[in-house]
Amino acid sequence: MCGIMGYIGYRQAQPILINGLRKLEYRGYDSAGIAVCDGKSIAVRKAKGRIDALVEKTEKSGLSGSIGIGHTRWATHGRPSDENSHPHVDQTQKFSIVHNGIIENYLEIKQELIEQGVAFSSETDTEVIVHLLSREYDGDLLAAVRKVAGKIRGAFALGVMSEYEPDKLIAVRMASPLIIGVGENENFIGSDIPAILEHTRDVYVLEDGDLAVLTRDSVQVMSLATDEPIERDLVRIDWNKEQAEKDGYAHYMEKEIYEQPRALRNTMTGRIDEAGQKVVFPDLQLPAETIRSIEKIYIVACGTAYHAGLIGKHVIESLARIPVEVDVASEFRYRRPLFGPNTLTIAVSQSGETADTLAAMREAKRNGSVVLAITNVVGSSIAREADEVITTNAGPEIAVASTKAYTSQLIAFYLWGMYLAQEKAALAPAEIASLIQSLQQLPGQVEDILAHAQQLRQFAEAIKDERHLFFIGRGIDHAVSMEGSLKLKEISYIHSEAYAAGELKHGTLALIEEGTRVVALSTQDALHEKMISNITEVKARGANVLGITHEDHVDLHRSVDDVCLIPKTDALFTPVLAVIPLQLIAYYTSVVLGNDVDRPRNLAKSVTVE
Ligand code: F6R
Repeated sequence: MCGIMGYIGYRQAQPILINGLRKLEYRGYDSAGIAVCDGKSIAVRKAKGRIDALVEKTEKSGLSGSIGIGHTRWATHGRPSDENSHPHVDQTQKFSIVHNGIIENYLEIKQELIEQGVAFSSETDTEVIVHLLSREYDGDLLAAVRKVAGKIRGAFALGVMSEYEPDKLIAVRMASPLIIGVGENENFIGSDIPAILEHTRDVYVLEDGDLAVLTRDSVQVMSLATDEPIERDLVRIDWNKEQAEKDGYAHYMEKEIYEQPRALRNTMTGRIDEAGQKVVFPDLQLPAETIRSIEKIYIVACGTAYHAGLIGKHVIESLARIPVEVDVASEFRYRRPLFGPNTLTIAVSQSGETADTLAAMREAKRNGSVVLAITNVVGSSIAREADEVITTNAGPEIAVASTKAYTSQLIAFYLWGMYLAQEKAALAPAEIASLIQSLQQLPGQVEDILAHAQQLRQFAEAIKDERHLFFIGRGIDHAVSMEGSLKLKEISYIHSEAYAAGELKHGTLALIEEGTRVVALSTQDALHEKMISNITEVKARGANVLGITHEDHVDLHRSVDDVCLIPKTDALFTPVLAVIPLQLIAYYTSVVLGNDVDRPRNLAKSVTVE
């Protein structure tokens, strides 16, 4: 994620930038920085850590000037550090930029710039932009920004300023959000509305491919590609402060559920080659030989991340044909797991700080296993101690109940499973290409499900007074049911159990009685008929069943009381879609019960005790 702030006007920029960054801290908080121009030169202050660390620095030595840019970072490329913080400046210190997004082709640009004699001072993908800007500048900042935007690929929202043209700020939006706040003799750039709300309520919401030139008393929006002026509506924001921080959503959890399409796209970004034929992991150093020699994989994780691991097992075993065991991290060390010379351990953790997962991965390392971390937080303890890291670029997750981190972890497993299959030649190139095509459709399919979210609010109303619920499914659907059940328990406080549908008749069926609510997942064509039988078994005992299935399974409609349809995808990818209704059921139930959705009782976001 990351948050961007920019100011041009008649007041001192520093306090305005810092206050704006505080409002954007939810977008990332591993480091922050500001650059201010006093009309003659650009000065920068930046610091690893929360905004307070930056404030400490500016209190010791502040910056004077009425034009500036600021940034609060959520690391994707390069660990959190002073050097990797934004704003970045070029070698001449004449240009400064802030960036939110990921530059996919930064490695090739970096190589080219290094060959031309540019010395880099950070490990970020962003730094290439400012050096390119310096190289392309020929007396016209706007023209240089356009040229640079034509060379970089990926997602980027940019704030740009130059000492050569100290009367303007340039903003660019391409697949990362950006707004322009319009004031009186002052204008603002922000990643989001809260950043500028205390100064103005009039905003332009930039769209992908927009560029804006801000002076003290004007804002000009134009097309990045064609130079054509664009008329964007000036929108009047009437949200209160709290609504603005949640982007207008009622809770962070709701916001994060709706952020999933973007989180999924960001997690795929830079990991599929341009032709859409191969999975690539430019950041991983694991030699091809090591990958080819992997004989066994352990996945260790807790809670929702453990549930993602269960899907990971299906994916890796099915695509790469490598045996996988999934362990609850808190149990792993105590069962004396067996390691061979070619065992890989995958530690999955949103926060990267979960004590049980950290302890499990240390145990694996002690036993000589290579450890790969799948985590959402660059620079976290788990990321630092792992041999290799796949970052899920979901952005900060604030709600205690994990949603976008889970689906992003699934994307990481899909990519990793395909990568293993590719490197071990377990799948033909055409099969990989076809999977990639389906994978790339998932974010759009999640959007389709979210467009019909209201149907599940009715279901939530219907179950709010229940004491117990069952989630049933077979195979990969069972793993998804476990996540649906956990989500419901943690925020609605209604007890539920996830059961492998075929296992019910071995005991649990005794609990089904008239009116018992059952959520039945049937997304797997190969298991569908068996699921119909299991649904019939619970219906015969009086259960009231909500079926979650895809369009083709019309016969399921006849067997259940209600049905929620999800789009069709490859059998392995269904969890990303099937979990969305389950997240919404949990969310709406918690809302109708009047619970504290984002901070459920007894729980914490990051569990750093064993
Ligand atoms: C549930 C949830 C937790 C976490 C678990 C592990 O919604 O969020 O079950 O998944 O505490 O946390 P991380 O992924 O940070 O290691």
